Amino acid sequence: EKGNYRHFMEKEIHDQPEGCQRTIAAYVDTLTDRTAVPGGLDFKAIERIQIVACGTSYIAGMMGKYLIEKLADLPVDVEIASEFRYREPALNAGSLAIAMSQSGETADTLAALRYCQAKGMKSAAIVNTVESTIAREVDVIWPIHCGPEIGVASTKAFTAQVSVLTALAVAAARARGRIDEAEEQRLVRVLLEAPRLIAESIQLEDAVRGIAVEVAKARDVLYLGRGPMYPLSLEGALKLKEISYIHAEGYAAGELKHGPIALVDEHTPIVILAPFDSYFEKSASNMSEVMARGGQVVFITDPDGERHAPAGARVVVTAPRCDPLIAPLVMSAPIQLLAYHVALQKGADVDQPRNLAKSVTVE
Ligand code: M6R
Repeated sequence: EKGNYRHFMEKEIHDQPEGCQRTIAAYVDTLTDRTAVPGGLDFKAIERIQIVACGTSYIAGMMGKYLIEKLADLPVDVEIASEFRYREPALNAGSLAIAMSQSGETADTLAALRYCQAKGMKSAAIVNTVESTIAREVDVIWPIHCGPEIGVASTKAFTAQVSVLTALAVAAARARGRIDEAEEQRLVRVLLEAPRLIAESIQLEDAVRGIAVEVAKARDVLYLGRGPMYPLSLEGALKLKEISYIHAEGYAAGELKHGPIALVDEHTPIVILAPFDSYFEKSASNMSEVMARGGQVVFITDPDGERHAPAGARVVVTAPRCDPLIAPLVMSAPIQLLAYHVALQKGADVDQPRNLAKSVTVE
């Protein structure tokens, strides 16, 4: 039930520290601070990973690609299931298929999974519903433990999926000899910090509410990010579109000059996601380019990023400082809350957005 919250979405945003904590606990051993991924798969024997998914689950999969390739040097392909299933992709039986699906019932994701299995691939599923069709058909089930998600706009399932993928990335890195045991333990301890830091970033709700009043007046909104903040910018744009009906696009910030900069004017808010990481300088220069053209920037960063912000940066949301490993988790709440409060401003039905269903079981 909703308890004291107005909407399931609001409750589910606030449920995330607990949902991630329960999920992470199922993938690490807190006595040894090592990863403990259920299912007994040998990451050394896997040549490639093919993730198939739709919507927010696809975006979580993309985040998985960024995490796993960087940490474990294991190639990951991610594809929208509805494209994948019909275009006759070339696959290799030594790859592992991962179906990502909160519901475990999405028709295109199920069909894409079956396509991989028919090619002889081993399969796994990251699902919230272990009794679902997708979960029943795979070799290995990797559940998320965030509890049932009722709001049509996915929030806590996204951060729980990303939690699993982060643990998998660390486990694969260790299994493939990319990191030693001490580094594995350090990363596990970082991951275990995530729930507390997510709770802190949810505290930004008041700041975000103020910004939402302005964003609600826009017809179009751009989200920009680099590295793992690129998938998160796609997620921010998807959330806003779904529940506030404002047109939004997520872009890799480096693509700005290749087209979207033409959209920048004083009426189009530009949300820039940029913690103070190795990409920061580049993102900050994109921010200056946007401001020079009169764009209204909503800058979502961390304390060091705020200190190094280009002159003139006005609207700043400062998330807690964290290790880059968990920045995707910590930076999620501000974009979810922004979409939520913009939708409230517009009087939209947040839990039942028009034309959308929670589970898309037809293609
Ligand atoms: O149940 P699934 O994860 O397979 O659902 C996939 C998409 O339909 C879902 O993520 C959709 O995009 C959400 N409404 C996003 O908020």
